[in-house]
Amino acid sequence: MQLKLFLNLFLVTVATAGVVAPIPDGCSSGDDNLVRRVPVPLDARNPSPLLNLEALISIPPALPINQVTELYEGRSDQNYEVQIFSRDPLIIYIRNFVGSDEIAHLLQVSEKKYEPSKVYSSFDGNKIDDKMRVSDSAWMDRKDPVVRTITQRAREFQGWRGKNTSIEPLLVQRYQADGFYNYHFDWDESRTRGNRVTTFMSYLVGDCTGGGTNFPFLPQPGDDRWCDVIECDEEGRDGYQGIIFKPIVGSAIFWENFHPNGTGHKGVYHAGLPVKSGMKVGLNIWSWDSAWVKPEE
Ligand SMILES: *[C@@H]1O[C@H](CO)[C@@H](O)[C@H](O)[C@H]1NC(C)=O
Ligand SMILES: *[C@@H]1O[C@H](CO)[C@@H](O)[C@H](O)[C@H]1NC(C)=O
Repeated sequence: MQLKLFLNLFLVTVATAGVVAPIPDGCSSGDDNLVRRVPVPLDARNPSPLLNLEALISIPPALPINQVTELYEGRSDQNYEVQIFSRDPLIIYIRNFVGSDEIAHLLQVSEKKYEPSKVYSSFDGNKIDDKMRVSDSAWMDRKDPVVRTITQRAREFQGWRGKNTSIEPLLVQRYQADGFYNYHFDWDESRTRGNRVTTFMSYLVGDCTGGGTNFPFLPQPGDDRWCDVIECDEEGRDGYQGIIFKPIVGSAIFWENFHPNGTGHKGVYHAGLPVKSGMKVGLNIWSWDSAWVKPEE
């Protein structure tokens, strides 16, 4: 009850902040009709308060949360390239993680499955909340051969992580103009056992302006060779602090959600920035560790 009150207060605070400090509109799509006002207070300059927005995570409606993924032992043959972006938190940039045939297939099967995205709350259940998240979600069928191959690739990439860790159902998320996902962590802090330990955020469609993935607390790397995948110039950074990954089709960003001691890592606080024009489609691959235990403070 108290948490609910706290969250409501937070929403009011953010809403007010949004009026005082609107998102800068630095984007030139060439068509004014397409550049719509961001309807929601994603505060560009101050993504704090940094509180655990467990109400923001998306949990598959039908996921028995401790279910261990059915093992698929086939090999994955995609030739992806990896680069360490950050060591603490561990963030790895993966080029060509999802192949073009796989993308075409996922987009096709998603078309019939989309429904408005919900946010999960331990006190309210799953609900639509357009202050927090505006997109359409399509949960992938675990038995689909392409889904199985990508799932297996994600397991291999992480060194399998033992039998207590499983890949959640894959989620395709479509963001049209004005779609976004407000700042959040991917784990659920209300839990004491079992949690979402890693995330792959990959892009299936990036035909848009805006729509980058923003990590407000990560420093800009010193090497400007990263500028092909992150926003480096003023216009692209658009007043946001931290790092903005561009939605590059086929690429994935992988990160660890927790410190090795089991405490959530604040560095992986992130948002899907508002799409200003066009469309972005993302693919989320989350790993669930049923043996994770909340550490003693
Ligand atoms: C799975 O978790 C249990 C504790 O819940 C632990 O005893 C076991 O060693 C773990 N297994 C693996 C393969 O990590
Ligand atoms: C776990 O490690 C992090 C990083 O060193 C630290 O900030 C945090 O306080 C630690 N958590 C506990 C419960 O010791």
